[in-house]
Amino acid sequence: VYPGLAQVQQWLANTQRLAVLTGAGISAESGVPTFRDGGSAFWAQFKPEDMASEKGFRRDPTLVWRWYQYRRELIAAVQPNAGHRALASWAGRHPGCMTLITQNVDGLHQRAGSSGVLNLHGELMQDRWLEAGCGCCRTDEAAAAEPPRCALCGNMRRPAVVWFGEALSPAVWSAAESAANACELMMVVGTSGAVYPAAGLAIRAKRHGAKIVIVNPQPSELDEVADVLLRGPAAQVLPALLAA
Ligand code: APR
Repeated sequence: VYPGLAQVQQWLANTQRLAVLTGAGISAESGVPTFRDGGSAFWAQFKPEDMASEKGFRRDPTLVWRWYQYRRELIAAVQPNAGHRALASWAGRHPGCMTLITQNVDGLHQRAGSSGVLNLHGELMQDRWLEAGCGCCRTDEAAAAEPPRCALCGNMRRPAVVWFGEALSPAVWSAAESAANACELMMVVGTSGAVYPAAGLAIRAKRHGAKIVIVNPQPSELDEVADVLLRGPAAQVLPALLAA
């Protein structure tokens, strides 16, 4: 039903080095709003620079903290979908053959059973201290405020996600680059390809000779590097693609 599917299945059957780059689209069928595609226009309700930036957080910590608590409630209420599960199952049947890199912070890949996930943009359900290296801050003593604060120095807890303008974790980024350099096949699933450096991983893989497969019902900014475009929703395409 998807032209090119059999070709990709053949590549999958013959690769030991598959890299997968996912974006918000793979969680769309779990009911998690995406950011930019026409569907939900998630950011329309908020201005990203106000809500998902250190400046925005320092300007109104309670507002931003409450926004993340709201998003955590949304995520806690949804389940991984067949797309997440197909990736986890394939990796289980082909040990050591898949590196899963995600821009998503929803943790649904992990909940579907994927391990060793490279969370480029961090994890929504985790917190960290706003000021690093205080030494006095005790998570178990953080006062129950919004956001929680260190009782001794007032340091605030913040979501452990990469905000606009912030650097990615060097360790995670270097592992993602190595996977993009080494892979023979990269599947790019559910991303508009609008945000760098994440989107650059597909270009890097292409430059290193990998075949690029895009799974997305809509055109994306990475289409021109694709060898095969599978125009369908991840929860339908991935189970068909990864059945073997
Ligand atoms: N299956 C596959 N792809 C889908 C589906 C689906 N069911 N539904 C939508 N999509 C596609 C859309 O066509 C779009 O190309 O998912 C993509 C979602 O794009 P974005 O909303 O831009 O999300 P993403 O690419 O992950 O954004 C990257 O930007 O906002 C920041 O840090 C945030 O990680 C995010 C980054």
